[in-house]
Amino acid sequence: MTMYRIGVIGTGVVGSAVAILLQDKGHQVTGLYSKTGISAASLAERLGCRAFADPVELLGFAEVIFITTPDRELDHMASLLAGSGMVRGKHRFFHMSGALPAEVLTPLREQGGVICSLHPLQSFAGIQQALVNLPGSFFAVQGDASAMEIAYRIISDLEGKPFTIQGEDKPLYHLGAVIASNYLVTLMHYALSIFGSIGIPEDKAIAALLPLIRGTLSNIEELGPVKSLTGPVARGDSDTVGGHLKVVSKLNYSYTDLYKTLGRYTVEIALEKGSIDETQRNRLLKLFCEGAE
Ligand SMILES: NC(=O)c1ccc[n+]([C@@H]2O[C@H](COP(=O)([O-])OP(=O)(O)OC[C@H]3O[C@@H](n4cnc5c(N)ncnc54)[C@H](OP(=O)(O)O)[C@@H]3O)[C@@H](O)[C@H]2O)c1
Repeated sequence: MTMYRIGVIGTGVVGSAVAILLQDKGHQVTGLYSKTGISAASLAERLGCRAFADPVELLGFAEVIFITTPDRELDHMASLLAGSGMVRGKHRFFHMSGALPAEVLTPLREQGGVICSLHPLQSFAGIQQALVNLPGSFFAVQGDASAMEIAYRIISDLEGKPFTIQGEDKPLYHLGAVIASNYLVTLMHYALSIFGSIGIPEDKAIAALLPLIRGTLSNIEELGPVKSLTGPVARGDSDTVGGHLKVVSKLNYSYTDLYKTLGRYTVEIALEKGSIDETQRNRLLKLFCEGAE
């Protein structure tokens, strides 16, 4: 089976984890680059490869190149590499952004390179977490047809599951992922702040809430989100919602605002579930718009 010579530009959380996992699978990581050089040097020591002071040098040592810089640097890095005159038809460039299409790397395609975006639908808080979480993750693939064979091979070696996506759909796809992952963190932070306001320490609150969250996730997996909705909104219990609004308004404005916004969205789920009627919906919406008396 063909093994690739791999270069990574941007050896942060994702770039480092990809390099480590692919080298474990038998590929040869031949060159690394990072902005400060610190992360690239430490990863180079771990993998026994070279860290370069100039990303262009890497083009002479690798055919498969991951550009895993922050998203905002991708077009700049593509132009820099393309302007070097060192890009060849053998080069396959992959970025791993969820929001941006492969075409952010167009300058490299114009120089004969092949471009592709490979987005792991996963959140990585650190390299160690990424090494654990990457296997089993879904990957959104989009880009040049001639990149697909290598893209699928890499995903398979990362023990991921591929699916294709259109470039123009990536911003909405990424929005969905952000809501499911980042805003789940936001919701947890919000819930923990409320528990904290009555003196429950964060570690105890996390331990107590996790079984509830896991139970909810398992309901969603089994039944889908609409049938999984429980609680006062699903029951049309406007007295309880009114009570929440009274206490939350004593905490701070943003808590009240968020509670009302989420409540309005949730009312429509309850209506879809059929657990409330139009009268209950309107009573709840009035509360979530105007607040408790
Ligand atoms: N983290 C996630 O959960 C996650 C999930 C899915 C996809 N992604 C995608 O993966 C990519 C990398 O994200 P990350 O979380 O791994 O980022 P990160 O940890 O912040 O790492 C970014 C890396 O890029 C380097 N860098 C920064 N500016 C640069 C520049 N101008 N030129 C060259 N290198 C530069 C940094 O160098 P230094 O090390 O020297 O600072 C660092 O090695 C992004 O496209 C992101 O959207 C991330």
